[in-house]
Amino acid sequence: MKIKSANFVMSNSNVANCPKEHLPEYAFIGRSNVGKSSLINMLTQRKSLAKTSGRPGKTQLINHFKINENWFLVDLPGYGYARVSKKDKKTFQKYITDYFIERQQLVCAFVLIDIRHEPQKVDMEFLEWMGENQIPFCMIFTKADKLKPKAIENHVNAYIKELLEGVWEEAPNYFVTSSTNGMGQEELLGFIEELNTN
Ligand code: GTP
Ligand code: MG
Repeated sequence: MKIKSANFVMSNSNVANCPKEHLPEYAFIGRSNVGKSSLINMLTQRKSLAKTSGRPGKTQLINHFKINENWFLVDLPGYGYARVSKKDKKTFQKYITDYFIERQQLVCAFVLIDIRHEPQKVDMEFLEWMGENQIPFCMIFTKADKLKPKAIENHVNAYIKELLEGVWEEAPNYFVTSSTNGMGQEELLGFIEELNTN
């Protein structure tokens, strides 16, 4: 799919105030600093459409970006931000969980996982929460440019194995991406295009 236009529409912290249009929408969620905003820029090939930072906790609100005038990408704040208290770290911010539960327009959420790391409790808990609440999602392994192809394969396999040893009966759909070298861009846009036309 060719991205002809990508425009910031609004930021807010209340799902009730999100755009009223009934257009298909895709949201990016995952730990702070995993690369959600960078991936939105990579997919749309707009360098600074979504604000990124080397410091975790950059994105603080629900951000809607309208793509090709007929669907939305949504950038969300991260969870598991290291500088919040242990108690807060466990509970995902309420406006984020409200967004997933209430947003009718959401077609698929993308849960981002840093490919370099071992499975983290907070990600496992979030994936479990998505399953329990029947929110459609895929996983996206990010920062694949940091590993060699063999290591990418090993890390993905180890992650899937751990999921299947836990509560999951089958592995969620997943993509491997790099915002630095564009890996996964065509696959992800193709996936979205197919969902948009169904
Ligand atoms: P929050 O908004 O704080 O939750 O973070 P985020 O998930 O939106 O992460 P962001 O896109 O701001 O990126 C965090 C850092 O990771 C930045 O320094 C990015 O340059 C870097 N980064 C993101 N994606 C990639 C990637 O694919 N490869 C590499 N090497 N670095 C990346
Ligand atoms: Mg961000």
